Order: sequence, then structure tokens, then C-alpha cells
Amino acid sequence: MKSLSNSLSGRVGSEYPIFGFSHSLDTTVAITRAGGVGIWGATRNTPAEIEEGLTFLHTNTAGLPYGVDLVIPPGMPDRDNRDEIEAAIPDGHKAFVEQIRTKYNVPADGLSGKRSRFVRSEEMARQQVDVVMDSGVQVLALGIGSPVWAIEPAKERGMTLVSLVGQPKHAERAIAAGADMLVAQGYDAGAHTGPVGTFSLVPRIVDIAGDLPVLAAGGVATGRHIAASMAMGAQGVWIGTAWLQCAEEHTAPEVMAKLAAAESADTVISRADSGKTLRQIRSNWTDEWEHPDAPKPLGMPYQDILIGDLLGQIDRHEVEPLMHSPAGQSIAYFNETTTVAEVMEGLVAETLATLASLT
Ligand SMILES: Cc1cc2nc3c(=O)[nH]c(=O)nc-3n(C[C@H](O)[C@H](O)[C@H](O)COP(=O)(O)O)c2cc1C
Repeated sequence: MKSLSNSLSGRVGSEYPIFGFSHSLDTTVAITRAGGVGIWGATRNTPAEIEEGLTFLHTNTAGLPYGVDLVIPPGMPDRDNRDEIEAAIPDGHKAFVEQIRTKYNVPADGLSGKRSRFVRSEEMARQQVDVVMDSGVQVLALGIGSPVWAIEPAKERGMTLVSLVGQPKHAERAIAAGADMLVAQGYDAGAHTGPVGTFSLVPRIVDIAGDLPVLAAGGVATGRHIAASMAMGAQGVWIGTAWLQCAEEHTAPEVMAKLAAAESADTVISRADSGKTLRQIRSNWTDEWEHPDAPKPLGMPYQDILIGDLLGQIDRHEVEPLMHSPAGQSIAYFNETTTVAEVMEGLVAETLATLASLT
């Protein structure tokens, strides 16, 4: 086998069946230009920023494939009304957050953070989807949730609809809703993740998916993982953590140092960032919320609003002990600053070598 191209890469028009997720536009462009499919995570961006970001991707990818990812969980409030959400947050939770601020001297600069600049609501999600529909982007990924009002217009426009799933029941729901491709994302993965490990998950999702292509995600860090994913029946892979130490990601130096030093067991799953289980680098932030006296994190979007301003201030004022990032267990494989092209080259070369060694 001399090339990694297959029916999936042929279908999306990329050189390799390697999809790369990132919140950085520069990383997304670099993944596409390196032969993969860059997927831009835009869930925390305003509709105006999404419009601008998708124009940037279109301009810089020279006709190569890229996509956008939104997160539209069910059960969010109808309206983007911060006052209503704040009024429902218990005083004890607010006092706990203020206690963290005082303990670490986090300046109250009056500005919000990416989790609190707007309320995750159906109103905002519909505006985000409208901009995506008008943009001409070809791939729409849905990280959580699959509402009909987002899927129908995407199907009408012939977009490729990708659903991230962490359990067989999610896969069945996504297929019924119209997904064209599934990402089987296991427990190892960075950010929001479910309870089932990648090895246990992928073959089951492949069986459920039938003719639909499946991408393996969660812990994919080397060509050996990619070859193993294909052996499990996946047609490609979907990777997030591997790009975090790339120059294109513009990660803060303090966070970069934590990522470089981390072993797999230095990532922990916490609800403290978003209210849902989110794998991240262990830090004083996660330790504070694990303390026996800490309150239980609230649900989404209440936790976003409770802690969003503080998280923004922690990052802006570089309060090192509390700085952190989502990251998966594959972080152990990445110990230094690199570039997207170098990561991609390494992945492809090792996958080809591994596949050749098996024959
Ligand atoms: C920093 C970071 C942020 C993420 N944010 C999102 C997101 O907004 N939406 C989403 O669908 N997935 C998100 N993910 C998950 C990725 O899409 C992907 O499924 C995951 O990173 C794959 O596992 P890996 O981290 O082991 O490579 C994020 C992952 C990371 C590392």
C-alpha cells in the first residue's frame, strides 16, 4: 500500500482520510493544506465571527476540503438572556467561585470569557446555523445534538453531515436524523467525552453504521493508531489533541508547558468547565472543584455563566496555576512545539509503514 487515500478521502476530496479538529483557524487551514480535512470548532463564536472565519477558511484553503463544527445540545434555554441564567445560580456556587478568585488573586477586569460572552441557547444556535448555511462550507459536524432545524437545511444544500457519537444509541439517533458520516469518539478523547473506550466503541459503531463511513476518534496519536482504526473498520480518523502543541494553535506558553509535561494520567474528566464531562489537563482549577467542600458543578449552560468570566480572566492575566486546556490521553505522545505539517507527515509515514509491516 503506497497511499493512504481511500474511498472516504476520494469522497471528501482530501489526500488522506485524516480529519483534524481545532478551534484555531490557522490550525484548521494547515490541516487541510497538509492533506487532511480541517474542521473548525466554532461553537463559542458569534454569528459574525463565524461568517468571517468561514470566509478566511474559504480564502486560504485553495479549493481543498474543510468543515465547521457546532455543538447544539438539547435542553438549552430558548433565549440568549444572561440575567435569567444568573438569577438561577445558587449563591453558594457564586461564593465558591469568588473564593477561588481571591485565593489566586485573579483580577476582576469586568470582561467575559469565551464560555460567558453569550449564553448557549437555541436562539444563538439558530443564528450560528443560519450563517453556516449561507457560507458554502461543505462539511458540517455536530459535536453534541442533532436538531432537525439544523440538519434539514444542511441536507437541502448537499452538505456532508458528520455526527460525533460516544455510544451505540447516539449512533442510531444520528443515523435516523440524517448523518452522512459518524465519528466514533471514545473515552480517551480531549474535551466532552463519554464513558466508552475507543477500542470498545469503534467496531460497534462500524457495525451499526452499515454503509456510512466511520471515523475513529479518541487517543489517535500515531500511525499505529490509524492502522488499528482501519483494522477496526473505520475508514478514517478524527483527531483533536495532536494539534494542541502546534505553532498554528497559538496556545499560551503556560498551557504549552503543562501539555508538554503531561502523561495520559495527567488528564482528568471534570464538569467544572461546562457542566458536562470534559477531559482536560489536571490543574489547580480541577483540583479546587474536586475538593470535598466544593459544590457540584451546575448543568450547562449555568456552569458556563458561573465560571466563564473567571476563566477568561485567568487566561488574560496568566494566572498560571489555574490555566488549563481540554486534552485527551494521547497528550503523552506530544512533548514539544511542532507544526501541523510535521504532525501530519509523521502520521502518514507511520501508518504506511505499519500497514506494510502487517502484510
Ligand atoms: C482543545 C479541544 C477542544 C475541543 N472542542 C470541541 C468542540 O468544540 N466540539 C466538538 O465537537 N469536539 C471538540 N473536541 C473534541 C474533538 O472534536 C475530537 O473528537 C477529539 O479531540 C478526538 O480525540 P483526541 O483528543 O484524543 O484526538 C475538542 C477537543 C480538544 C482537544
